[in-house]
Amino acid sequence: MVHINHHYLKLRAGYLFPEIARRVNAFAQANPQARIIRMGIGDVTEPLTPAITKAMHEAVDEMAQRSSFKGYGPEQGYGFLREAVAEQDFRARGVDISADEIFISDGSKCDTGNILDIFGCDNRIAISDPVYPVYVDTNVMAGHTGPADESGRFEGLVYLVGNEANGFVPELPSEPVDLIYLCYPNNPTGTVASRETLARWVQYAKASNALILFDAAYEAFISDPSIPHSIFEIEGAKDVAVEFRSFSKSIGFTGIRCALTVVPKQLMGTAPGGERVSIHQLWNRRQSTKFNGASYVVQKGAAAAYTPEGRAEMRGLIEFYMNNARLLREGLTAAGLTVFGGVNAPYVWVRTPAGLGSWEFFDLLLSKANVVGTPGSGFGAAGEGYFRLSAFNSLANVQEALQRIRGVL
Ligand code: MLT
Repeated sequence: MVHINHHYLKLRAGYLFPEIARRVNAFAQANPQARIIRMGIGDVTEPLTPAITKAMHEAVDEMAQRSSFKGYGPEQGYGFLREAVAEQDFRARGVDISADEIFISDGSKCDTGNILDIFGCDNRIAISDPVYPVYVDTNVMAGHTGPADESGRFEGLVYLVGNEANGFVPELPSEPVDLIYLCYPNNPTGTVASRETLARWVQYAKASNALILFDAAYEAFISDPSIPHSIFEIEGAKDVAVEFRSFSKSIGFTGIRCALTVVPKQLMGTAPGGERVSIHQLWNRRQSTKFNGASYVVQKGAAAAYTPEGRAEMRGLIEFYMNNARLLREGLTAAGLTVFGGVNAPYVWVRTPAGLGSWEFFDLLLSKANVVGTPGSGFGAAGEGYFRLSAFNSLANVQEALQRIRGVL
């Protein structure tokens, strides 16, 4: 008899985005004439840019020649990409991160889940609410929680509520915690954390020996120069934080898959006997056992984003999506909705009208406007009464979606 990981049984429904896709597919089948505009999952729509395409073509050609063919690459990523990241994403911003503190991977979603392999089962874990559901579900899967209550909150997690009063930037926990998930620019609310806010978190983590898992997957969308792109811009953060970054949204790699995790060498955890253990060494051990590295062709593509042409093209993509975000923000506000985010992040977070529940508003927009968004309650109990729209779409679709939504309200 095979015993399953029974913690999976605590997960009440499917993962949020497949669940939305299931509902949308059912609607599409019943209404084959409807032209549905999908602004639910934050999935890019624009093709790869020329510099990246060229680099990937060249890498395929290298693989096709005996003399330049490559088999397994380094599990931590190729030096050319790790160096480029360290230099341009960090040192150029005055942040002292070295190439060997950067681990290239095939996605931040995987990394934020996989990192739980190296932490114990007895950590007190703080997550925001609303939150990117991966942080919660992976802790449930790992057996770090009890069952969920009526509202979907899991026993054993410390929920830090983001709401309109705190600008969707939760306060520090009022009870002791060991692991803290932060995501800025925030998914789903599109809000950002100021330097002061991040400094408060770093101070808190230092004072309480906690570790921050900082998800910076959307940092490239920050336009306000006062907002940090990395938690390592905060003094002392290298003692208390791991950072996740992604190429998915910045250069259109949601389907190509490439990301990175920064684990400072000085970051330490505590073993059961009390001795201090290097988190960097544990993560390296985990990756070199369970992962064979992102593909060479993909890493060549990512590295092209650090050339002058690649940089300029990436900026163009980001401006394109952020113009969509601006249109959504302005259009929905003009339609009488209360809108958050969408300034330094590609998500707009909308208060649902007329007291509608998040899924009710989802159903209304799907059935009457044929527009798909993400119900705020899918991101946690505190997301109830809100709705997320993604700016990742064509301009024509954004304009049409706005027109249709206005027609429904
Ligand atoms: C989202 O829509 O929240 C993102 O696409 C999810 C992800 O990046 O995994």
